[in-house]
Formats: sequence, C-alpha cells, structure tokens
Amino acid sequence: MLLTIRSLTKTFPGTKALDGVRFDLRAGEVHALLGENGAGKSTLIKCLTGAYRPDAGEIRLDGQPIAPRSTSEAQELGIGTVYQEVNLLPNLTVAQNLCFGREPRRFGMVSSREMKRMAQDMLSGYGIDVDVSRDLGTYSVAIQQIVAIARAVALSGKVLILDEPTASLDAREVEMLFDVVRGLRDRGLGIVFVTHFLDQVFALSDRITVLRNGCHIVTEDTAALDRVRLIEHMLGRALEDEVEHRAVDHGVAGPVKPEMLAFDAMSRRGVVEPFDLRIAKGEVVGLAGLLGSGRTESAELLFGIRGTTTGTARDEVGPVRIDSPRAAIAAGFGFAPEDRKTDGIVADLSIRENIALALQARRGWARPVSRTEQARLAETYIKRLDIRTSDAEKAVGELSGGNQQKVVLARWLAMNPRFLILDEPTRGIDVGAHAEILRLIHELTAEGMSLLVISSELDELIAVSDRVIVVRDRAHVAELTGADVTTETVVRAIADHGREEVA
Ligand SMILES: Nc1ncnc2c1ncn2[C@@H]1O[C@H](COP(=O)(O)OP(=O)(O)OP(=O)(O)O)[C@@H](O)[C@H]1O
Ligand SMILES: [Mg+2]
Repeated sequence: MLLTIRSLTKTFPGTKALDGVRFDLRAGEVHALLGENGAGKSTLIKCLTGAYRPDAGEIRLDGQPIAPRSTSEAQELGIGTVYQEVNLLPNLTVAQNLCFGREPRRFGMVSSREMKRMAQDMLSGYGIDVDVSRDLGTYSVAIQQIVAIARAVALSGKVLILDEPTASLDAREVEMLFDVVRGLRDRGLGIVFVTHFLDQVFALSDRITVLRNGCHIVTEDTAALDRVRLIEHMLGRALEDEVEHRAVDHGVAGPVKPEMLAFDAMSRRGVVEPFDLRIAKGEVVGLAGLLGSGRTESAELLFGIRGTTTGTARDEVGPVRIDSPRAAIAAGFGFAPEDRKTDGIVADLSIRENIALALQARRGWARPVSRTEQARLAETYIKRLDIRTSDAEKAVGELSGGNQQKVVLARWLAMNPRFLILDEPTRGIDVGAHAEILRLIHELTAEGMSLLVISSELDELIAVSDRVIVVRDRAHVAELTGADVTTETVVRAIADHGREEVA
C-alpha cells in the first residue's frame, strides 16, 4: 500500500472535522474521496499536505510514518496537491511557474535557456502544446491546471491530490485533464480525486471512499457501486424523489405587461452581440451554452457589471437604471456570481454578517439592518439551505467550500430581490443540497421572484427553467419555451452550427 491512514482525528472549536478516519491509497489507482459539504474531505487532504496537524492518528507513506508540517515538507515526501483555484502565478511564464523555487543556475545566475529546457521536459508526456516562454495567464484554466499537475508531479511524484480540479472546466477540457490523470495512474502514481460531479467519479476512479460527518463510511471498488447506493452512503438516508417541474409559458411576447422586466438591445462590443430579454414575474429563464459562449457576460450586462455598455431596462413603471451594480441592487436586482471565492465571501466576517451584506447594500448604509434582524435572517437561511455550522457567529472562512457557497447564495436571497441572477448555483454543492436548491428556486418563483439561471449542468437547467435561451459564440441564438424545453432540443441548439443561417 502506497499510503495508509488510520484513526485520523482533527477537531476545530465546535466541530469534529475528522473522527477516526481511515483511508488507503494504492500505487496506480485513482481513488475518489466523496462526501457532502462539510464531510471532512478538504480537512483530510490538508492533514496529508501539512496544512493542518491532526490531533491523533497515523499516516504512513510506503510503510513509514510521516507527519508533514508544511506543504513543502509534504512535497519532499512525495505528496503533491492541485486545488481548484490554480495556485500558480499568471504573470510569470509557464517555465518560471514550473521551475519556481528550483531554478537551474549557472555561475549563480538563473539560466533561462536551461529553465526552458527543464520546463519542456516536465511537460513532455502530457500531450499539450504549450510555449513555455509565454505567460501562464494567457492559457486556459485547463492548461493552467495541467501545468500545476506537472509541477506537483515533478516535485513530489508519488501521491497526487486533486481537490475539485474540474469545477471550472468545460467537457472537452475535463476529458483532456482525465487523459493526463490516466497517464499518471499508468505510471504508478496514487491519485486522490475529490469532486461533486458523480459522472466524473464513475468515469475516472478505480475505488471510492465516502466520508460523512467526519467519519469513514465505506470504501469500495467503483465498479461495485451504483449511483443511487453511492448517494445514499453520502447522505446517510434514502434518496428523495426529484422535484417535479413543468416549464410554463409566461407569454412574454408582445408589449411589456405589468410585472415584467424588459431589457432592450443589451450589448457590449466584442463581448456580447445585442440581445433583448423579457422576463415575467415568477419566471425562470435559463441561459445555456458552452463555457466561454457569453453566458456570464450576458448576465453581467443585466447587472451593470463592467462599465459602459449599451442597452436599456424598463418595467411597467418606466426606465430602470442598471448602469452599475449599485444601481442594479437599488432597483431590486441580485447577482450570485460563479466565482464565489473571489466575488462573494468576506472570510473573516461571520455567517450572520455575510448574509446581511446585500440587504444592507440595498437599503443603504444610513439604515442599518439591526442585529436582531440579521440573526433572524441568518437563522432562516442556515435552515433553508442546510448550511452546516455550529452557529451563525462562525467566521465564513471556517466553513467548508460548499457551505461558503451556500452563504453567498443566502446573502442574495436575504435581499429579497425581484430579479435574481444565479450563475452556476450548484457548483461545488453536494448532491443532497442540489435538490434543496432546485426546490428553493421553485419556492422563490411561487413568491414572485424572477430568476435568470446559468448552469453547465443541462439536466438541472432544464429542471428549473420555464424558458431556455441558448448562447453560442457570444450571441443569443435560440429560445425554447414551455414543452419545447427538453435536453434534446437544448443540446441541439447548443451544437447546431449555422442553423440560424439556414432558417
Ligand atoms: N479552519 C477551520 N476552522 C474551523 N472549522 C473548520 C476549518 N476548516 C474546516 N472546518 C470545519 O470542518 C468541517 C469539515 O470541513 P471540510 O472543509 O473538510 O469539508 P469538505 O468535505 O471539504 O466540504 P466541501 O465539499 O464543502 O468542500 C466543516 O464543519 C468545517 O466547518
Ligand atoms: Mg472541500
């Protein structure tokens, strides 16, 4: 056995994040580590990489007990990690990133020719075509992630840990990453793979370990587990039935009716082609399209992000000012962005304060949201979104990744907007909470909120949308309503090059 973990325990104030966990990793396997938000996956990994010191338990690598005290010590032992957010430096060249900390020197000077050669060596065998003297930031996230993997493998070489590596990749890029991972497995590395995408678990992993509430639940061969049993292990209960939804045609064609928002000729040169959008009260509009098609950019126009754009918004009363996010918020709009880590969280404020932020911004700072009201909001949303925490006063930075995302979502909901944009609302959120969020979307629309939802998970998008707009190559190319909203029609519209030219 390459790596064995026994009785691993780690406690934070008020939380037993790991409770006597065991875990084994063989050389030449991909071992998926799964569990709900807050189950303890990242904590286990941080104990392996030296970011956390366990309270008790044993970690053995090649039979020898180890107790890494820092990431670099773990790397020297042979354990490398790649996180979802690439931890490399975009403004340095690919070669500089790969050789960082161990630059080849000649007479005390860094030799750039030598470094280039070393970097090319490190990338050989990964099947990607990269100019190592270009800045890393000029490449796609997928390429950046492969560079990060190449660096981790070169530095460590025995164990590779991937903590949600695929969250911001499109389907083709995921395939590319998987090919790289399979190649490394065949070279005899042990790979730990953390993800919430169960399709990927079945596509890539050889074995699966499930954690729940900091405890080891099961370890089995992937081939011996089916999806339903796996989810039940994760949840600790039987799977509930999916929420029923029928797309409703809200009849947004024709003149702007009361309780309808209309956006006209929204565009930004070089970013999004002009489009109109109407959205009825209580309607859910889905934006479908590939990563980079212009989905997020379209949504940003509606919320006044990114400065000068053309286009106007109006409701039944008259024009609505949305030339900045502040104006949009004042108009009762909300936007929970995709990249919640950078756009959303104030890590050292409490859950209560984070949730109250958007409402405060909407009201203006002259009318503070009282502490009682904040507490009440926090209480409501901790329950509604099942945020796993001991209490509302905990700093958001101490929550697990998925629970931090729920807090950002809660913040926008607490503002009670009339129009809410949700960009990838279930990214990083576990299977149990997925269903909760879909249910919540239905409740909100029943209360009269209008929603624009962006999601790469088509099944989910179709499950919530009354109408789906397909974005391709920065233009809105198709619109499907009511009974036409099916996986097949949407997939066809996303893929169908040149259909609109023919029509
Ligand atoms: N630095 C910290 N301080 C306090 N509590 C923490 C800290 N890090 C993690 N925890 C707690 O430990 C538990 C396990 O968190 P962990 O991040 O390991 O979950 P996870 O399985 O990675 O979840 P996710 O899928 O949401 O990323 C959670 O209850 C979390 O709040
Ligand atoms: Mg995590």
